[in-house]
Amino acid sequence: MRITDPSIVSQLAELRVDLQPGASLAVLTSLGIGGTTDLLRIKEHESLPDLLNLLDANHLPHKFLGGGSNLLVGDGELPWVVLQLVRPEPDVVLDGNFAHVDAAADLGRMITFCAKNDLGGMEGLIGVPGTVGGAQRMNAGAYGMQIGSYVREVKLYRAATRQIETLRGHQISFEYRHTSFAPDDMMLSVILELPSKPFKVILEGIRICNEKRRSSQPLGQKSAGCIFKNPPGSSAGRMIDELGLKGLSVGDARVSGRHANFFVNAGRASAKDMLALIADVRERVQKNYGVSLENEVVVWNA
Ligand code: EPU
Repeated sequence: MRITDPSIVSQLAELRVDLQPGASLAVLTSLGIGGTTDLLRIKEHESLPDLLNLLDANHLPHKFLGGGSNLLVGDGELPWVVLQLVRPEPDVVLDGNFAHVDAAADLGRMITFCAKNDLGGMEGLIGVPGTVGGAQRMNAGAYGMQIGSYVREVKLYRAATRQIETLRGHQISFEYRHTSFAPDDMMLSVILELPSKPFKVILEGIRICNEKRRSSQPLGQKSAGCIFKNPPGSSAGRMIDELGLKGLSVGDARVSGRHANFFVNAGRASAKDMLALIADVRERVQKNYGVSLENEVVVWNA
């Protein structure tokens, strides 16, 4: 979707929104898949209510993009514009055990910055690509921890009220890879309360998690992490592996040979290829195990 009306273009500039025409979502996502649309980069959180009013008044649908690491975007010209926060400097400010973090902050950099200041708890998420806002919105977790346990306050643009609001941690429900935020809420910043730990101890935890991840997941390849959620008490990756589906491909979309719940873009996979592979694997698991796998990856299909 393209914004060509000069009046809208000038209003965007007044709101300090940087318009990047015809951005490629393939470049902005870890899967390397996705078509093109106009990208609106937001420099000031406070401009969001006016920006959303402007888009709505001009019938311009939108989607919010975080780090693009858990996302499968459709092919071709996309029927909505994409909004993304510009990362401020600094993006993490510490106050005792509290880390005030901008949603656009890189998750890994935030974890190491806090570690250097003797604040731990997030070791399990080291190596997970994406932004802090994205991790928080979907309650990212690994190796027995989840980010939601540390969230004390969230500032967000609430689509339902069309305003910027602040929620306390207890007002948000954090479940397995799911939170009570609406899909069109935009995370702006978060306050995490992290346990004090000596840097050396955190570093050892980080080293162990890194090793586990490196030995079991295809880190160097284009992927969106796990494609399916684990069904209660079971592992989607184990089931797909047991069915002998590692290496199964549709075009360049392929079930990873290293971890069967990671589907990789081995070259020039399209969203159509990846969606066909997901549907095929889901059907086989349903047929053989009677289990209906739910997507973990977020799909923006036109
Ligand atoms: N397994 C296989 N074959 C495979 C993959 C896994 O047999 O190809 C077996 C493993 O040997 C193990 C079991 O399945 O016995 C579980 O595997 P793993 O420890 O890799 O964990 P997982 O359940 O597949 C979950 C999360 C990961 C997270 C890891 C580590 C989900 C959907 N996946 O994977 O999160 O990194 O645990 O805590 O919850 C993600 O969210 O994108 C993600 C990758």
